Amino acid sequence: MLSAYLMEWGSMMLRWLHVITAIAWIGSSFFFIHLDASLRPAPDIPPGTGGRAWQVHGGGFYEMRKYMVAPAVMPAELTWHKWQSYWTWISGFFLLVWVYYAQSELYLIDPAVMQLSPLAAGAIGIAALAGGWLIYDWMCRSPLGKHDVWLGLIGFGYVVAASWAFASVFSGRGALIHTGALMATIMTANVFFNIMPGQRKVIAALTAGEKPDPKYGKAAKQRSTHNNYITLPVLFLMLSNHYPVTYANAAAIPLLVALVIVAGALIRHFFNIRHADHAKSPWWCWAVAILALWLAFWVAMSASPGGRERLGLKPREPGRPVLLAGMALPPAEVTNIVTGRCAMCHAPEPSWPGIQIAPKGVLLDGPEQIAIHARAIRSQAVMTHAMPPNNLSGMTAGERRVLAAWLAEKPR
Ligand code: HEC
Repeated sequence: MLSAYLMEWGSMMLRWLHVITAIAWIGSSFFFIHLDASLRPAPDIPPGTGGRAWQVHGGGFYEMRKYMVAPAVMPAELTWHKWQSYWTWISGFFLLVWVYYAQSELYLIDPAVMQLSPLAAGAIGIAALAGGWLIYDWMCRSPLGKHDVWLGLIGFGYVVAASWAFASVFSGRGALIHTGALMATIMTANVFFNIMPGQRKVIAALTAGEKPDPKYGKAAKQRSTHNNYITLPVLFLMLSNHYPVTYANAAAIPLLVALVIVAGALIRHFFNIRHADHAKSPWWCWAVAILALWLAFWVAMSASPGGRERLGLKPREPGRPVLLAGMALPPAEVTNIVTGRCAMCHAPEPSWPGIQIAPKGVLLDGPEQIAIHARAIRSQAVMTHAMPPNNLSGMTAGERRVLAAWLAEKPR
């Protein structure tokens, strides 16, 4: 019993830390991108060697100055921005291990996709993150790295292909989180293996009284541009595992990932340009992003099992009177199905091995409980097949149709 509580609590603690550090990282990253874009020439800064921006915040005015590649002498005090990124990755990695590797039978392994042992599943996940970064890094250093647009397009195809590969070995949920984790690993590894070492070399040159080589600034700029454009898609992928409708169907995952990357990158692009010059705001980005998200909605909906049936169904007869309040008890057939397929986990004393408290506090062990959770049952077992997890208790399509028919009659 205690271990189940600790598992839940540990997951909560890690998630908390992860969200805090991610806010600190992405917040400072957005801030600097905005600052870079809003720099203007100043009379005492020669053109091409930096710029100046004024900002107002917290009861005072800030005068920000940027020196390209570095100031003439090393400043006495220097603040680095790197631990936000490192801690986001560290906490995220432990969260991945905690939720997806330590409880892989519930979240990561879908026997219908591939029969994996928990050890094999975890090993594949970790190897994919490390190997995925190495391939990306190699692409950036290869001759392809000299062509920003081609590198961007091929990198995009690479991530979509990775999501397809993940969906061929893991559950849909595991595939989306690993796609997000791969992109996030690339982001932090860019900081750790590329941007920071470059900055250290610049500082070493300054301290030695030499002129720093601008090539380090250039390489860092390419990597931080990638980081900038993938930020919003990564956040979508991190949140997607809380929404079964995004991962209900493995076949749809690569398309969904592609559309979300397009939308997220274009929204970033809009702000990148707008912050430099309001008059040039590329409004078309919003049009394409909204279209991509609208398509993503249809992809998710038409691919998710409940959505398919929904689209194929004849429209309900209009004006059908709603006779019962939300608390009406389900028919015996429904109660039998739910107690038979769900209550081994969703009961005060679950009998399923490894489950010691009803997941998410959802109890489904009697008609009253089933009526209370009617909406949740609809989203988890009819609209999508998220429950039972990986269909562990072997619910049949016919049983789902019985639930669907019952839920169709229930008021919202
Ligand atoms: C093998 C154990 C198991 C079985 C069987 C099972 N569930 Fe679950 N259920 C879980 C777990 C684990 C979670 C927590 C999932 C998460 O954190 O996303 C959960 C969560 C839920 C939630 C809450 C979802 C949320 O995110 O708020 C609902 C509702 C639910 N299950 C309904 C059902 C229904 C309906 C059935 C039967 C058709 C069922 N479950 C069968 C293990 C099970």
